[in-house]
Amino acid sequence: MLGRVSSLVTILIFAQTGILNSHHEAAHWSCDSNTDTHVQAHFNPGRITLDGQVDDWKDIDGSAFSVLPALDPDADKAYNGGKMTVKASHDGKDVFFMLQVDGDYTYSEGYSNKTASVAFMFQIGENASYHRMGGCEEEPDTCTSKSCKGHEVDLMHFSIGKAIPGRLYGGNLLDNSEGNGGDRFSHLVDLYCWNPHCRYLDGYGPSVNDTSAQNDWKGTWWHSSLTHSGAENNGSPST
Ligand SMILES: *[C@@H]1O[C@H](CO)[C@@H](O)[C@H](O)[C@H]1NC(C)=O
Ligand SMILES: *[C@@H]1O[C@H](CO)[C@@H](O)[C@H](O)[C@H]1NC(C)=O
Ligand SMILES: *[C@@H]1O[C@H](CO)[C@@H](O)[C@H](O)[C@H]1NC(C)=O
Repeated sequence: MLGRVSSLVTILIFAQTGILNSHHEAAHWSCDSNTDTHVQAHFNPGRITLDGQVDDWKDIDGSAFSVLPALDPDADKAYNGGKMTVKASHDGKDVFFMLQVDGDYTYSEGYSNKTASVAFMFQIGENASYHRMGGCEEEPDTCTSKSCKGHEVDLMHFSIGKAIPGRLYGGNLLDNSEGNGGDRFSHLVDLYCWNPHCRYLDGYGPSVNDTSAQNDWKGTWWHSSLTHSGAENNGSPST
């Protein structure tokens, strides 16, 4: 993680119900950061519990977006199962995000390459572009924190796979004690990069390992078709 206070994320994937609040719907997809789309986090101390349930988000406004293919973000090719709603909130210490996608839960176990996964990307460097994850022009063998200075972006990536619904993933004592942004339970990692080919788990780079990096994100997921009793072992992997 680069230069940010600790942050938390709640993710609810493929919720089947829910009216979408569409305040700032993006009409045209763009990699340009100068868009009118803003997700604003208001101060709501003590409101959000990180458990994958969205009841505590219901009075918080969100923005709805179509889910478009990354490499061909054409409106014709939007996911037709439902829209994605993003909400944000903060309590003065942590910022919380909720991502909700309408639709059935269709993951087939074993196909980790077909699982739902999401990433949030934040601009850190003043010259970082949304397009090409920071947009540094250097090649993988020449990009360094010096040659790509100013193009830093920070990402939180959560791949659902076999993650147990309701359990917290992400920053944990084991990985943080080794000084990296990994999640050895392989679901929620914290990384930073300068372009799509120069991306590193916090701390683990090709030429330098920084042993003071930490993953400060935590995340969990839920689907409305699941019952509460389905989530056994509802403990954090970090304990
Ligand atoms: C996805 O995973 C399945 C199961 O492990 C494997 O058979 C398949 O070849 C993988 N597909 C790709 C494109 O990697
Ligand atoms: C960003 O780009 C401008 C213009 O090229 C340059 O003057 C500035 O130093 C850059 N910022 C960083 C942090 O490298
Ligand atoms: C950084 O850490 C990784 C994982 O432990 C290791 O494979 C790699 O050799 C280390 N790199 C350096 C330069 O120490």
